[in-house]
Amino acid sequence: MAKYIAEPFKIKMIEPIKMTTREERQQYLKEANYNLFSLKSDYVYIDCLTDSGTGSMSDSQWAGIMKGDESYAGARSYYKLIDAVKDIFGYEYAQPVHQGRAAEKVLFPCLLKEGQYSISNMHFDTTRGHVTLCKAIPKDIVVKEATDTENFAPFKGNMDVERMEAFINEVGCDKVGVIIMTITNNSAGGQPVSMENIKETSRIAKKYGIPFVIDAARFAENAYFIKTRESGYEDKSIKDITRETFSYADAFTMSAKKDAIVNMGGLIGIKDNEAMYNAVKGFTVPFEGFVTYGGLAGRDLEALAIGLYEGIDYDFLRYRIGQVQYLGELLKEGEVPFQYPTGGHAIFIDAKRLLPHIPYYQFPAQALACELYLEAGIRGCDIGSYMLDPVDGVQPESEMEFTRLCIPRRVYTKAHLDLIAEALINIKENASKIKGYEIVWQPQVLRHFTAKLKPIE
Ligand code: F0G
Repeated sequence: MAKYIAEPFKIKMIEPIKMTTREERQQYLKEANYNLFSLKSDYVYIDCLTDSGTGSMSDSQWAGIMKGDESYAGARSYYKLIDAVKDIFGYEYAQPVHQGRAAEKVLFPCLLKEGQYSISNMHFDTTRGHVTLCKAIPKDIVVKEATDTENFAPFKGNMDVERMEAFINEVGCDKVGVIIMTITNNSAGGQPVSMENIKETSRIAKKYGIPFVIDAARFAENAYFIKTRESGYEDKSIKDITRETFSYADAFTMSAKKDAIVNMGGLIGIKDNEAMYNAVKGFTVPFEGFVTYGGLAGRDLEALAIGLYEGIDYDFLRYRIGQVQYLGELLKEGEVPFQYPTGGHAIFIDAKRLLPHIPYYQFPAQALACELYLEAGIRGCDIGSYMLDPVDGVQPESEMEFTRLCIPRRVYTKAHLDLIAEALINIKENASKIKGYEIVWQPQVLRHFTAKLKPIE
């Protein structure tokens, strides 16, 4: 790391946040039925629930908002966005949509048939949901290092390519409709995927004639990790690495709410397959809106075209990934266990190791998330057993019990990060006193968003 690194921006506008008392937070949490998604954001001091749509736009992006062309058809802002995608990703075709899951909804029916598999290093929840809605079956094949939270591995997000090829041979290549590489691998802790792994996955996909798609939500963070960890890429620009990454795929879906630093937006990119593009346009019109706005306002298209460039700026990425690494260093010193090394967009606290006395069916990662809110008004979320809906009435056990703390882009300062670390270290000192939770009400699917819980006394 260079000697002088701080935020590569200065603050021009602020949004006040308010600290509450522990007594107040106890009341708010109880009223929210111990579900952090039910908390009013006004009651949250530092919001680490997600890095999606929570970043700060720049003065250029806000100026773009004023310049957005709101024409229904053929808007100037649409062409600006298409040009940006061609330039950064090297793709012939792009379709804006309103967010990442809309990209999945539009693209997947063009690729997946009933009964086929979708193979991924790890499907994000909505990706898994849209595969299932196509009556296809999601199959995660991540490398084994992803579950070892203690030891360093540079690319814990990788696909296990050997197991992937064996799986294709086992079920037959006609049964695999798509291979999806999620970069970075969100569910494994924002862990990166190496260029070598992307290239090898692409080679196998081609060998069997299977379309290869990138889930590109955090493509720029992934490129930064390739630059800093993979030999041969040290001197390449983030844009060159991005171009190479996407050259190996046939298409991408993107939630632009992450690395493109907008509050709303998504994209589908198609390298050169005109028939695929025509099919995508065919679904976009009824699902999202006309081709040249795709469910977004002209001002959103304008801000997105600008944000794509800001998101691949090396100095920005160094500061951003540096923030997450800095928080990781504080936690390491304080002996708080987390998925090590830190990934791109978040810290994943290992609640299984921090709270070994709470069994999976009493949701240790959710218990830690609640405790962190009580301790200092910080909001994170469970990525563990609480997130898994029961199967035939039985609670599945998640392999990992993570409390995810996302760092929104260009929002919090080093002092906020210090406070997060301090709160977690305090919690660690009294960890044995923390109690598990039970669910008192839950919906049929995606229960973690709305379930009601209570602490086990
Ligand atoms: N793919 C990945 C890897 C994601 O992380 C997300 C969203 C999506 C697709 C869906 O995009 O929200 O724009 O529809 N992740 C957010 C999160 C919600 O908090 O991790 P979306």
